[in-house]
Amino acid sequence: MGVFSSGGVGIDLGSANVTIFLENEGVVLREPSYVLSLCENPEHVLAVGRDARQMLGRTPRQAVLLSPVMDGAVGDQELASLLVRALSDKAIGRKRALERTRVVVSMAQGTTKVERQALEAAVRALGARKAALIRSTVAAAVGAGVPIAEPKGVMVVNIGGSTTEVAVLSIHGVVATRSMRTGGMALDEAIIRYIRNEKGLVIGQRTAEDLKTDIGSAKDMGAESAQDVLLRGRDARTGKPATVSVSPREVYRAILPPLQMLLENIREAFENTPPELAADILERGIYLSGGGARLEGLSDRLSGLLKLPVHMGEAPEDDVAAGAGAVASDEKLAAKLLQTGCLIEL
Ligand SMILES: Nc1ncnc2c1ncn2[C@@H]1O[C@H](COP(=O)(O)OP(=O)(O)O)[C@@H](O)[C@H]1O
Ligand SMILES: [Mg+2]
Repeated sequence: MGVFSSGGVGIDLGSANVTIFLENEGVVLREPSYVLSLCENPEHVLAVGRDARQMLGRTPRQAVLLSPVMDGAVGDQELASLLVRALSDKAIGRKRALERTRVVVSMAQGTTKVERQALEAAVRALGARKAALIRSTVAAAVGAGVPIAEPKGVMVVNIGGSTTEVAVLSIHGVVATRSMRTGGMALDEAIIRYIRNEKGLVIGQRTAEDLKTDIGSAKDMGAESAQDVLLRGRDARTGKPATVSVSPREVYRAILPPLQMLLENIREAFENTPPELAADILERGIYLSGGGARLEGLSDRLSGLLKLPVHMGEAPEDDVAAGAGAVASDEKLAAKLLQTGCLIEL
């Protein structure tokens, strides 16, 4: 593809991360959905994305870290515009101006009318030649290569930072949905609480998240699990710097309550599926996407709980952006999704 041709761009505006996918190039950017602003004047932006996240917990008194995409929907339209603008400029550069591209941006399930208007305004402000919104679970399915054309139900579960979305898709449309206000961040919070209560150590969100991705698991591996890790934090009583040792088993215990709730919610969604579709899902299984799906052992545990196959790709956190990008690059597919209302042209 030459510099002058217009490529499709897919943008996943997630509660935890913004991911940008370019036709023929793949995922070119993935950065946290944060904006660092001055307290007294939130319009004065100091940093966005990774740079802003870097300052989380290190924020000077007069600055505030804002998350324009809370719970998967756009909370602050101006901040969201700013975030997407800054990150898309970074990803796409001036070389391939957005004016020549088709952009498809994911929209969280359960987005209210007001939130959708905010998202539309943020997307319009990008100034793409053509722009559309796509339901995130549909984008996840397309990105994961799930067959959605057939008159057979498939279940997609997208586990993000603060939301989990379940959808049953058939013939390019959504036939059943369920959204939960929980995801990977709930596990981080559970780790923070556990370490404080059981170990008397105060740790930050990033430390908890690292602990989860490094040694967290949805399976109790017992004594034969990996090695303990040393954690630095603050002593909860004295406030002085302290170090404690944490085992994988303790992390497992910490995340178990929110994890079980998440699994139960997915089970309920499956059990509430109409019988014909449930039969299809039993046969074809569930497709997991989103960063939260990467928790070690999660897909096995879900598979054991529901007694059906669970599929997950190599990079489930990229599925939504990849699917949005694929739709931006494929007019036939876009036309079909427009008919079922899964794609909304702006
Ligand atoms: N290897 C991993 N193990 C467990 N959780 C993970 C892993 N990688 C990413 N996550 C979690 O995935 C979540 C982010 O997923 P993502 O799909 O980017 O969110 P969103 O779509 O809401 O922006 C975070 O809570 C993060 O901690
Ligand atoms: Mg996601």
